[in-house]
Amino acid sequence: MIATRGLTKRFGRITAVNDVGLNVREGDRYGLLGPNGSGKTTVVRMLLGLVFATSGEIELFGRSVPRHAGQVLPQVGALVEGPSAYGHLPGRANLMLLDAAGPGLAAAGPGSARRGRRLRVDAALERVGLGGIDNRPVKAYSLGMRQRLGLAAALLGEPRLLVLDEPTNGLDPQGIREIRELLEQLNAAGTTVFLCSHLLTEVEQLCTRVGMMDRGRLVLEEEMDDLRAPTGRIVIHSPDADRVAALLDGRVELREGDRLLVRGEDPAAVNTRLVEAGLRISEIHRERRSLEQVMLQVTGPGSDRIDHD
Ligand SMILES: Nc1ncnc2c1ncn2[C@@H]1O[C@H](COP(=O)(O)OP(=O)(O)OP(=O)(O)O)[C@@H](O)[C@H]1O
Ligand SMILES: [Mg+2]
Repeated sequence: MIATRGLTKRFGRITAVNDVGLNVREGDRYGLLGPNGSGKTTVVRMLLGLVFATSGEIELFGRSVPRHAGQVLPQVGALVEGPSAYGHLPGRANLMLLDAAGPGLAAAGPGSARRGRRLRVDAALERVGLGGIDNRPVKAYSLGMRQRLGLAAALLGEPRLLVLDEPTNGLDPQGIREIRELLEQLNAAGTTVFLCSHLLTEVEQLCTRVGMMDRGRLVLEEEMDDLRAPTGRIVIHSPDADRVAALLDGRVELREGDRLLVRGEDPAAVNTRLVEAGLRISEIHRERRSLEQVMLQVTGPGSDRIDHD
């Protein structure tokens, strides 16, 4: 769906994106993570033909961009940093204008064009939770409403691929959850989702595949299931930690207070053994790496920091 090779962007002396090879497959919910300033937005802008790459190649749906942008981009719904709209117009009017300018126009017959447009716009507003929106101008919208409107705009042409830069920026936890559920639904119906974010939990909860950027480079690209696979250790919390440690002697790798880390793959079997020995277990589960641990391993200090030498 999205493939890049050697993608590089320099702004003067700054190399914002450095030799990036992305591989997003059809049906993925792909999350591009990275600290502030690591180059995520610049990647998105190149994918959408908003800035030219300094070097490297981009393919969307197997076609080279920007050369075939005219055929490819109408199938892509996009939301880039700070969604733009005419502030003096209501959200619905903004979407009507966008739809008129977009590929939807050609699809509808001449007579039905306006009616079809109205239906598409209403459906998009409904999907993002703005179905009951009044006629206030966009400049009076809250940040969350603007973000939802931007997402509605991205959905207008029923795209095969969504490219979203920080889609939940400015939303409260309830709003974040609604957007996550919406993206899951769209993905289940066949839309590939590519988003960038600096929020680990957002990507952890939504995505099936993860890329991590650090200072312009793609330092990791992996399936979420592989990243979060069990580590081969079991975490045990017990008020009888001493006796647990004694019973599992030789397998205990770490002990901190009532918490133990034990080598093993099968918490159920370990649990049975401990309980049969009369020991109390308050918690037992397989250890998994969190996305945060992985991120800290593969990335350096924030790209935005300007420290003394
Ligand atoms: N138009 C530009 N001119 C000069 N430098 C730029 C330009 N756009 C981006 N940069 C620089 O490129 C680097 C990457 O920026 P980018 O916006 O892609 O990062 P990001 O990962 O999206 O960060 P954030 O999480 O803060 O949104 C930064 O150092 C930034 O200052
Ligand atoms: Mg950005």
